[in-house]
Amino acid sequence: MTDVNGISIGILGGTGDQGKGLARRFALAGHPVLIGSRSAQRAQEAADSIGHGARGAENAAVAAEAGIVIVAVPYEGHKALLESLREELAGKIVVDCVNPLGFDKQGAYALLVEEGSAAQQAAAVLPDSRVVAAFHHVSAVVLMDPSVDKVDLDVLVLGDDREATDLVQALASVIPGVRGVYGGRLRNAFQVEALTANIISINRRYKAHAGIRVTDI
Ligand SMILES: NC(=O)c1ccc[n+]([C@@H]2O[C@H](COP(=O)([O-])OP(=O)(O)OC[C@H]3O[C@@H](n4cnc5c(N)ncnc54)[C@H](OP(=O)(O)O)[C@@H]3O)[C@@H](O)[C@H]2O)c1
Repeated sequence: MTDVNGISIGILGGTGDQGKGLARRFALAGHPVLIGSRSAQRAQEAADSIGHGARGAENAAVAAEAGIVIVAVPYEGHKALLESLREELAGKIVVDCVNPLGFDKQGAYALLVEEGSAAQQAAAVLPDSRVVAAFHHVSAVVLMDPSVDKVDLDVLVLGDDREATDLVQALASVIPGVRGVYGGRLRNAFQVEALTANIISINRRYKAHAGIRVTDI
């Protein structure tokens, strides 16, 4: 497996549940973690709450400094944020975990995205970055729960750059219990993002934080 030891991980929107949850697990695994935010102060507060050497800064500074960058902002702010960071993110692996979802009385449903998926939108906006899609189905609640030692799920990793997907699979696997599994090309990211709506329905029915496992590999 690709060696990811010591790679610094920046998280755009790292003040939210998902960003903080991932930050916590990567910091626990010994990675330098940089929390990004539109506000340096909010970023620092989130970093302080995580501890383990996590630092906070504005999104642009995090995008410029981190070795690998995870995008964990709501879909509504996704395109504009990435457009504003094109230069900082050039040449980097950018990991998109954004699920474009709507919610109504029937629960969650997948939104249609002009580019095909949030991940493809990221790739369109960041032509000089190596965009990978991953971490869509990981529950932030589970990531933040100190009583959960092992996170019981596979992380599907999608992308068109083999070296980049290998690296992100290895990165997912530093979280105890998690296995990073290649899930196809970026053009197939829509189904993976959309499946989150089904997982939310499962969680509501069974009062769970469900994940998925791929068998026979
Ligand atoms: N929550 C989960 O369990 C989970 C699981 C898998 C994937 N995801 C995906 O991860 C992403 C983040 O989820 P979340 O629950 O952490 O969301 P969130 O708490 O609503 O947002 C995360 C952070 O994004 C920043 N943000 C909000 N609106 C923004 C905008 N218009 N432009 C730029 N930044 C903005 C905010 O940080 P600042 O105000 O500090 O800038 C906020 O703290 C979503 O796309 C979601 O689909 C979530």
